[in-house]
Amino acid sequence: MEQFRYQENELICEGTKLQDIAEQFGTPLYVYSRQSIRDHTRWIEQVFRETNHLSCYAIKANGNREILRVLAQEGIGADAGSIGELHLALEAGFPPEKITFSGVGKRDDEIEFALRQNIHSLNVESEEEVNVISEIAERIWMKARILLRVNFDIETPTHKYTSTGHKHTKFGIEREKAVEVAKWASTVPGIELRGIHSHIGSQITDAETFLQAAREVVELVNELRANGLEISELNFGGGFGVQYHDYVSHPLLPNDGEQADSGVTTVKLLESVLPVLRESKCRILIQPGRSIIAHAGILLTKVLYTKQSGDKIFVIVDAGMNDLIRPSLYQSYHQIVPLQLSDSNHVLVDVVGPLCETGDFFAHDRMMPDVKRGDYLAILCTGAYGFVLSSNYNGRQRPAELMVDGSECLLIKNRETINQL
Ligand code: LLP
Repeated sequence: MEQFRYQENELICEGTKLQDIAEQFGTPLYVYSRQSIRDHTRWIEQVFRETNHLSCYAIKANGNREILRVLAQEGIGADAGSIGELHLALEAGFPPEKITFSGVGKRDDEIEFALRQNIHSLNVESEEEVNVISEIAERIWMKARILLRVNFDIETPTHKYTSTGHKHTKFGIEREKAVEVAKWASTVPGIELRGIHSHIGSQITDAETFLQAAREVVELVNELRANGLEISELNFGGGFGVQYHDYVSHPLLPNDGEQADSGVTTVKLLESVLPVLRESKCRILIQPGRSIIAHAGILLTKVLYTKQSGDKIFVIVDAGMNDLIRPSLYQSYHQIVPLQLSDSNHVLVDVVGPLCETGDFFAHDRMMPDVKRGDYLAILCTGAYGFVLSSNYNGRQRPAELMVDGSECLLIKNRETINQL
């Protein structure tokens, strides 16, 4: 069961009314459900219960310290994309042997720090990076465990900015060169080649695409073994898409209709690829971000004004693209609902922020219950790539973050002050 839902006509999180939270803590405000974070983690772990595996939460999706502590307590691992995220992971209590490090442009100091912490492995993206890691490892008398990220040139049905698995992107080593590079890397001093890494993109909801990637990775593992290499690990990355449309429903809300993401769940996506991945007899690693945290968070905002301009109605809210950039950057869909429903008419509106940019919007031509100044709205499924992508643009203070735990509310990041600008 999802933790954000309507109880009669009131949107609640776990047992708490979100209207009360908005009035007490102010808006814009990110609100997370501790139970939802646990639920999504446990659903994934349940799929892998009979598989030798390690799930490493992709910190880039949401690096709030309290959220990381909840995940570390669940016993999973973490994937860091920078030295900052490595520090956050260690501080939150993830054991080094459950931390991986990914990224196409790791700096020397970041590599050295990762090696000194003796983390599980580094996902490596080029021959030059193998050489740099080798030099650093030799200098500090450490052995670097690496997985080679391979670009399998797979077309992914997702936004072009979140597609990473085909040739013209900057990611990974070309499939054609993978065997030769792996053979060479396994001989490089200071390097222990453990396996292959693949991450084809983000918000992919199509099981067939993942299946194609899984088959390609397993075929490569077999080819490497036929060449005499010992391959013990296969990192299948993240990217498991989530449902954004119709996340909550209520008789007083308009229906989003049938959409590409209808009914998609991480469990279904993972269950479809797991039998193929297991054929490799490798330990399976994954790096899910969105599929753990997207549904665990929402952004609360308040209606400042409504106005009609020509044939358009604008709902102007106190959150802006600096708080949540996904609609502006990727034209992403987020369901937007009032915290309190009444049997008002449905109207076609644009929900926009207060910034001086036409690109500052959350929804265009969206059917919504009629709302007025002072009403509170929830922008749903914003736990992933929400707060972490926020900025101070237009001199705005970044929003506060709050975690609901049953009937308790814990402020997990204070709203920025003017002095912090
Ligand atoms: N592993 C690697 C190497 C990654 O680059 C990413 C995400 C993940 C795992 C986690 O992917 P996920 O399970 O969250 O899909 N800002 C964009 C998404 C960018 C994804 C970047 N890499 C958005 O808001 O949609």
